[in-house]
Amino acid sequence: MRKIDIFDTTLRDGEQSPGINLNTAEKIEIAKQLERLGVTVIEAGFPASSPGDFDAVHQIAKTVKNSIVTGLARAVKSDIDAVWEAVKVAEQPHVHTFIATSPIHMEYKLKKTPDQVIEQAVAAVKYAKEKFSLVEFSCEDGFRSDKEYLVRIINEVIKAGATTINVPDTVGYASPQEYGALFRFLRENCTGADNVKFSAHCHNDLGMAVANSIAAMENGADQIECTINGLGERAGNAALEEIAVALHIRNDIYPVETGITLKEIKRTSQLVSRLTGSVIQPNKAVVGKNAFAHESGIHQDGVLKHKETYEIISPALVGEGDVPLVLGKHSGRAAFRDRAETMGFELSDDKLNKAFEDFKKLADRKKEVTEEDLVTILTEQQISI
Ligand code: KIV
Ligand code: ZN
Repeated sequence: MRKIDIFDTTLRDGEQSPGINLNTAEKIEIAKQLERLGVTVIEAGFPASSPGDFDAVHQIAKTVKNSIVTGLARAVKSDIDAVWEAVKVAEQPHVHTFIATSPIHMEYKLKKTPDQVIEQAVAAVKYAKEKFSLVEFSCEDGFRSDKEYLVRIINEVIKAGATTINVPDTVGYASPQEYGALFRFLRENCTGADNVKFSAHCHNDLGMAVANSIAAMENGADQIECTINGLGERAGNAALEEIAVALHIRNDIYPVETGITLKEIKRTSQLVSRLTGSVIQPNKAVVGKNAFAHESGIHQDGVLKHKETYEIISPALVGEGDVPLVLGKHSGRAAFRDRAETMGFELSDDKLNKAFEDFKKLADRKKEVTEEDLVTILTEQQISI
């Protein structure tokens, strides 16, 4: 089956979320869990950005054995040297170097001509290649770059030794159709494209990061860059857990293999949330508190009869324990009876109906009826004559 590499950047792009700051011990704990999860590449940080980041990348490169460890570097020698010093202990030293390629970034941010940018990119990749076997080159703001210019710079960096070409949608502007078409165009028009990996890196400003990543994959991307819980700059990056589960559940239309151990997803998500202090929105797909919770009577009745009436992902698949049916004002008699029986109450139909009426009255007043409330209601009926 076609292999899609998962490049996790929780510890680099994810840490760029406002308010997140992980220390070395926390980063190592997350990196070990990412290794257990089975990601192909861990982007552990940006070593030139601070001594703390350098140390974290270095410690992770020493600790992690089953995932490739990389660090980010601008297309300058000193940044590439910093990554080398941090990851040279790793079995497969990898560097991720980048420069912006869109007209707006080249003119206003870099103040360089397109030719000067190509010259700098080529020099950086050649320099990196003297040390590293694996060199990823990113065209920052790639999606808003001129397509013909992308072909030119990519051809040159491939000649200089790049092994992976990443074309990010840095500002989350692309639609799935456009982003997919760009990958198809680059695959078809870049010289030497067959000898390198193409990588997708999507931001979620318009809520399309996961869809865009999958569209890129369908059009020739071999690697997807993403983060746990979709953490990242502004609205975040493509969420790893959503991509991995979507590709698994819809294997009928996406016949690919990611190497992700799905049952480690919940644990990884919880760990990242706890250590970053970033709360997961309750209705977040796959890992949100409500991702497998059914509240309405019709849905509850359905899942009690056959889980798959309303459940396309089994909670156990991602390492989630049993999720009890939520008892609230939309719940029905079937869920109520099921919970009463699970709690050990055996009531006649009459008593159960009476308890259900009491429960409905309470549910109208409270957002969620607790286990203690249920015990009170059911016990009252059990002891009544
Ligand atoms: O979004 C982006 O362009 C990046 C690059 C550094 C790859 O994070
Ligand atoms: Zn990014």
